Amino acid sequence: MQNDIKQVLYTEEQILKRVSELAADIKNDYEGESILMVGILRGAVMFYADLVREMDMQLHMNFMAVSSYGASSQSSGVVRIQYDLDEDITGKNVIIIEDIVDSGLTLAYLTKTLKSRNPKSLKTCCLFDKKERRRVDFKADYVGFDVPDVFIVGYGLDYAENYRNLRYIGELKPEVYE
Ligand code: PRP
Repeated sequence: MQNDIKQVLYTEEQILKRVSELAADIKNDYEGESILMVGILRGAVMFYADLVREMDMQLHMNFMAVSSYGASSQSSGVVRIQYDLDEDITGKNVIIIEDIVDSGLTLAYLTKTLKSRNPKSLKTCCLFDKKERRRVDFKADYVGFDVPDVFIVGYGLDYAENYRNLRYIGELKPEVYE
């Protein structure tokens, strides 16, 4: 598996340090409030698990699974909810936790959908942001790292469902996906 990685972009230590900073920012912003942390499966699992364990405060955990579908690896812009929240979010402070924002289509759709359910507040937190690839105007409230437009895997992110279990973020060798 490691042989498919061209270079390590973020080590486990760098990631955990940034995750801890994000946890502190969120905790500071929601003092005295409770939060529902909504993780988006599957890519966000590692980030989600590390983030909530850094947050010394009351919070609830729940998950959704979504997929964008279309003919190619390029997102079609249509997002399908594969697994929805099994709770009412009316009046709750909700934060959507994502691993990466790319075109922005997934989070634009999710925020619109969850807003229509009348939460008390709704914010988004993503570990990686590929701003160069935006197709819709979307800005996350909490961002871990701005990343260049290279194929990154690890720490939850996959290529063809592999590499999610790497502890670090690596750039995939082009010959692996070309
Ligand atoms: C990834 C990521 C986001 C989405 C971001 O999910 O987790 O949900 O793509 O891309 P966008 O900004 O262009 O919409 P993916 O569909 O790869 O599923 P996964 O989380 O199961 O890996």
